[in-house]
Amino acid sequence: MRRDAHGSALSGRHVLVTAGPTREPLDPARFLSNASTGKAGFAIAAACVEAGARVTLVHGPVSLTPPLGVDTVGVTTALEMQAAVAACLQSAPPDAVVMSAAVADFRPAEVSTHKVKKADAAHTLTLVRNPDILAGLGAARGDAARPILVGFAAESGHPVEYARDKLRSKRVDLVVANDITAEGAGFGSDTNHVWFVEASGVTELSMRSKRAVADALVEWLARRLEGAP
Ligand code: CTP
Repeated sequence: MRRDAHGSALSGRHVLVTAGPTREPLDPARFLSNASTGKAGFAIAAACVEAGARVTLVHGPVSLTPPLGVDTVGVTTALEMQAAVAACLQSAPPDAVVMSAAVADFRPAEVSTHKVKKADAAHTLTLVRNPDILAGLGAARGDAARPILVGFAAESGHPVEYARDKLRSKRVDLVVANDITAEGAGFGSDTNHVWFVEASGVTELSMRSKRAVADALVEWLARRLEGAP
């Protein structure tokens, strides 16, 4: 594996990491979101920067302190995350994009400018689809080799099967799959039990800290980027 004089596996590389949930407002007081805390993505950003990479971390609302040396961009909604990722690709094209964010698949069709009151008429919530940021990156890359694209699949059962589907449909290089219903592997946990799913096969990583999963991902990225300009 290529390392610089300090043994840094990602020296000279730029990695874009997304982390945390997105939050889709309903009105000034309410939103739709999910249980992601951003721990996995922040651990990946820390591992990448410690491996010598320049790291851009685009994150949704979280209560974590960003790792030292990382460029952070805070966003709220999926559309804002998509715009921040596009801006990064435009201004400083990364060697790899790691989409660990739990992007909300839907947003309210309308956002009320005033707090919706109990007395207001029918409370039927109409949702519209958010763009799939990772699938958009896969489609835009086409047959090019860069950037390396890594997705996550947080599933409640059959993680490897779903990850294989996502690998193909989103046209990415690696999907890190986990079962969020398994003990010690869900949102907010400090540990995870994952599978690295790629076209050439599946590697199971037994239960370990999210930081150790991040270190394994750094090793994977370094191998994939080896020899590349
Ligand atoms: N993702 C994304 N944009 C979305 C939804 C997901 O970029 N609108 C990315 C996530 O960051 C993750 C991967 O796609 O890397 C898989 O996300 P996941 O929520 O597991 O899958 P979905 O494609 O949303 O499919 P489903 O919810 O049906 O499992």
